[in-house]
Amino acid sequence: MKTKLISQPLARAEADAVAVVLFEDETPPPELKPAATWLDDLRASGEFTGKPGELAVLHRPQGFAAKRLAAVGGGKKEDFDLAALRRAAASTARILKQKGVKTLAWSLAGGNLQGAAEAAVEGAILGEFEPDRYKTFTKESKALDAFQVIAPWEGSELASAVERGKILAEAQNFARDLANEPANRLTPMLLADRARAMASEAGLECEVLDQDRMRQLGMGALLGVAQGSAEPPALILVRYKPAETPKSGDHLALVGKGVTFDTGGVSIKPADGMEKMKYDMAGGAAVLGAMRALAELKPGIPVTALVPAVENMVGGKAQRPGDIVTSLDGKTIEVLNTDAEGRLILIDALTYAKRLGCTHLVDAATLTGAIVVALGNVNIGVFTNNEGLLGRVMAAAKTEGEKAWHMPLDEEYKDLLKSAFADLANIGGRWGGAVSAAWFLREFAGDTPWVHLDIAGTAWLDDAKPYMAKGPTGVCVRTFARLAMEW
Ligand code: BES
Ligand code: ZN
Ligand code: ZN
Repeated sequence: MKTKLISQPLARAEADAVAVVLFEDETPPPELKPAATWLDDLRASGEFTGKPGELAVLHRPQGFAAKRLAAVGGGKKEDFDLAALRRAAASTARILKQKGVKTLAWSLAGGNLQGAAEAAVEGAILGEFEPDRYKTFTKESKALDAFQVIAPWEGSELASAVERGKILAEAQNFARDLANEPANRLTPMLLADRARAMASEAGLECEVLDQDRMRQLGMGALLGVAQGSAEPPALILVRYKPAETPKSGDHLALVGKGVTFDTGGVSIKPADGMEKMKYDMAGGAAVLGAMRALAELKPGIPVTALVPAVENMVGGKAQRPGDIVTSLDGKTIEVLNTDAEGRLILIDALTYAKRLGCTHLVDAATLTGAIVVALGNVNIGVFTNNEGLLGRVMAAAKTEGEKAWHMPLDEEYKDLLKSAFADLANIGGRWGGAVSAAWFLREFAGDTPWVHLDIAGTAWLDDAKPYMAKGPTGVCVRTFARLAMEW
């Protein structure tokens, strides 16, 4: 989708539709004078009250160059933050493209114009996304070709805000596309290919450690998970280096769980809903999407992405419950449940990140069903060993409108991971499952500042929303990009 910043009066915007946000109990802005009767009738009839999600369309509005005028409900003016604006733009794009609109113009109201321009563009691009690449006929949806931001003035700051919104949202859609790929079309090696292609296009370094290399290094926890699959594993590394190395010496690692399919292994999952486990690499996809954005946004801090990619399968070579593996950092682990595989691959990646010199570790993983029970599909579960890094991650998530909730990680929970026969067990029992999983990771982060984001509930949308298609959400891409930019 093309995006453009245009500074001209609303009435002169040439587009298939021009959209204006209207609030509850608000008299329409002066630019809408020519459409005053229509708006009065809409309100009087109760057809349009200004509530979020409402949309009314007038064809051939008199006094406007556009073919349609769309009134978009914004809710209460005082509650209309950037997240609400992003959603309003997204649902408007989704609804109007279905009506055949190809070019959509969006009128910016007052306030924080830069933030608004960025959020509107993000909303349109995110709302436009459809996970329909494998439908060869009767595509249910049509596409928007262009999104114009109509601003009271043209300015380089506003133009770069539009550009930034486009970069971030396209990176997020890139991650959504990856997370939606079925496991026959996205094996660990094919994920590595996608990462390589993205990196070379974006001008980033990419390196892929293969099974032999991981064996030499001693990544026993990761390899134990991979051994049940006919598909070889990969540890994908993508590096971004700023023009100048920061004096602080800070180096951020973004680590993303890349299980291209999770059958559960010998501790097999129930058949019902198992097809969804193709998105068990959504954390890895988010990390790669963020790198794609960072290549263009050029933050001042070096960032290394690590995506341990494996397929968790059943088979004659699969690891068994009770197996004991030795992780890269030397600790032994009793694999009591082969379905708790994410933590096993992540710890070897976290250890490797530290060896590469990363000073701050942030991981995203569809790690536990327990976080879905705890937080549903609204909030990311956030765990940490460092309040400072936590603050940075939470601030980035807030700016980007990705909801995140800080979860506890008290010492008492650590005891859940005791094993009779090895240093640690890979599960902690029935209660507090998301916390014991996080503690498992923490054991390997050690004293290095670390934040873990459990996105099992937020990386996939089971039911479409007006502003978002069913399926992969691309959660964390914008938060990660923002985190690096604001460092
Ligand atoms: N990939 C799953 C977690 C998951 C569940 C992601 C639901 C998305 C939606 C993970 O590998 C897993 O199976 N975890 C187990 C851990 C348990 C065996 C301790 C779980 O949550 O049931
Ligand atoms: Zn699992
Ligand atoms: Zn999993």
